[in-house]
Amino acid sequence: MKTEILAQEDLSLAIDSLKQGELVAFPTETVYGLGASAFDEGAIRKIFAIKGRPADNPLIVHISSMDQVSLLAEEVPPEFLKLARAFWPGPLTLILKRKGSVPAICSAGLSTIAIRMPVHQVALDLIRGVGAPLAAPSANLSGAPSPTTAQDVLEDMDGKIPYILDGGPSAIGLESTVLSLVSPRPILFRPGAVSKEALEEVLGRSIDLANPATPALSPGMKYRHYAPKAAIRLVFNESDLKGPYTLPRITARNLYSELRKADRLGVPEVEIYCSSSVQTDPALMNRLLRASGALETTAASKRAS
Ligand code: TXA
Ligand code: MG
Repeated sequence: MKTEILAQEDLSLAIDSLKQGELVAFPTETVYGLGASAFDEGAIRKIFAIKGRPADNPLIVHISSMDQVSLLAEEVPPEFLKLARAFWPGPLTLILKRKGSVPAICSAGLSTIAIRMPVHQVALDLIRGVGAPLAAPSANLSGAPSPTTAQDVLEDMDGKIPYILDGGPSAIGLESTVLSLVSPRPILFRPGAVSKEALEEVLGRSIDLANPATPALSPGMKYRHYAPKAAIRLVFNESDLKGPYTLPRITARNLYSELRKADRLGVPEVEIYCSSSVQTDPALMNRLLRASGALETTAASKRAS
């Protein structure tokens, strides 16, 4: 299959392709996603096959309007509405109880469903055009850093999907915050651009951090995400940078593209300086610790998406 990068003017080709059960990569404000129509079981199967994604790692479903929530979720609790009002469209994924009509494979068999309304206009136009929510993990091969440009997607998906929609470089550069609302207290599964404090402020109560010792709650936590081929060494004093390959000025926006660049160059080790502004960004530190292997749980020598 020939893979083509499409400009936004050619959106209709991407829409037709998704309607016919093909996969299309598309831009969001966090990272690029690999989309399939959420009610097309065969297309979702292709996502797992093409990425090499473990069958127990569930997908996020992307919507373009609030009326699509009731297609996906069994119940819509008041706290969900509060958070959606405050942070959607945007980099927040909320987990609710899954409706029986949503293919179980979408959630890797879990009784829950992860939902997000992205703010990127191309993503919203695509979902509207298809007329159905889109299930989409990050558009990388399982284990590789998430893609933040159409070119990054091509690096991993060339020959595997018909189209990559180009929406420019991702504005945020790290995956969305993931919050579960199915337990008595909300649980933060993945830190992202929407902070724990901002969520607590809107909810008016504290939320729990997911316990990495019980990864079954959020299967993605047990895999070594975001891992480049090079070994990562985190350095906390600038004067300790030895080289030869160093990244002295990492940000949320440039982390994944810098890791991809290092892998293209084939360097064996990357030293990353964690300045105080890096250290105080929980989402960025989470990805750095995972990329370095420091956050792996016992089950996590496996690599995943
Ligand atoms: O920013 C993002 O969230 C990007 C863009 C494309 O929207 N997507 C993304 O998807 O990062 P993915 O598949 O790479 O990561 C989804 C994470 C995984 O850690 C997965 O385990 C978790 O969300 N997840 C999805 N559904 C879940 C569920 N029902 N229960 C618990 N965790 C879930
Ligand atoms: Mg991913």
